[in-house]
Amino acid sequence: MKNAARTTIVVSTVIIVISAILLSNALGQRPSRPGTDRQGDSQLEKPPIAKDDNEKRIFGVLENILRSQSYRNVPPQDGRFLRIMTESMNAKNVIEIGTSTGYSGIWFGMALQKTGGKLTTYEIDAQRAATARDNFKKAGMADVITLVEGDAHEEVKKLKSPIDILFLDADKEGYIDYLDKLLPLVRPGGLVIAHNINPRMADPKYMEAITTNPNLETIVRSEVSLTLKKR
Ligand SMILES: C[S@@+](CC[C@H](N)C(=O)[O-])C[C@H]1O[C@@H](n2cnc3c(N)ncnc32)[C@H](O)[C@@H]1O
Repeated sequence: MKNAARTTIVVSTVIIVISAILLSNALGQRPSRPGTDRQGDSQLEKPPIAKDDNEKRIFGVLENILRSQSYRNVPPQDGRFLRIMTESMNAKNVIEIGTSTGYSGIWFGMALQKTGGKLTTYEIDAQRAATARDNFKKAGMADVITLVEGDAHEEVKKLKSPIDILFLDADKEGYIDYLDKLLPLVRPGGLVIAHNINPRMADPKYMEAITTNPNLETIVRSEVSLTLKKR
C-alpha cells in the first residue's frame, strides 16, 4: 500500500474514534473505563439513593472527588460493593492499603459510621495523603478513619488487632507481602479483598497464595478478588 493511502486510513480511523467518544460524551454515556461497566452491570443498577442528609452530604463529597480530582480511585460500583460488605458484616476493624485521595475510604467510612467500627488506611504519597485527610474531614469522617502516612510494608507491622476486612489497593507486586504480614490478623470469617485482579495486573504469587490455600475460599469478579478466611 502506498504511504499516502496508509496515512489516509490511519487519519480516518483516528477521526472516527474521536468522533465516537465525543458523541457518546454528548449523549451522557461516557465510554466506561475498564472495569467500570462489566457485563452491562450498570444497565441494571441505579445510582445510590441517600437515606438521610448525612448520606446525601457524603455522596456529594464522593461525586466531587470523581469530578475534580484526577487520581486513580476505585470505580463507584466497587465503592458501593465495599460499603455493602462492610456494613452487612458489621465490620469493626477495616484495613486499607492504598488510600490515594480517600475515595474508597469514604465508602468504607459510610458503613463504619453505622457499625461503630474504624478504618485504618495507608498512603505513601504525602500530597495524596493531605488531599485524603481533607476529603475525610469534608465527609465528616475524621473520627472514623485514621490515615497512616508512610510505606505500608513497614507500617502494617505495628498492627495487632483482629481484622474484619483487609482491602489491598496499592503496589500490585506488594500484595503478597501484605497478605503474608496481615493474613494472620484477619479473623476467621473475615475477608481479604484485592483490587485490579485481572490477567494483566494480578501478581501470580498473590493469586497462587489466595487460590491454593485450603483455609481460604477465593472468587474473582469484575477484577476484584474476594477471599474468605474460613472458620
Ligand atoms: C490505586 S490507588 C488507591 C485508590 C484508593 N483505594 C481509592 O479507591 O480511592 C493506590 C495508592 O497506593 C499508594 N501506594 C503505593 N505503594 C504504597 C505503599 N508501599 N505504601 C502505602 N501506599 C502505597 C499509591 O501512592 C496510591 O495512592
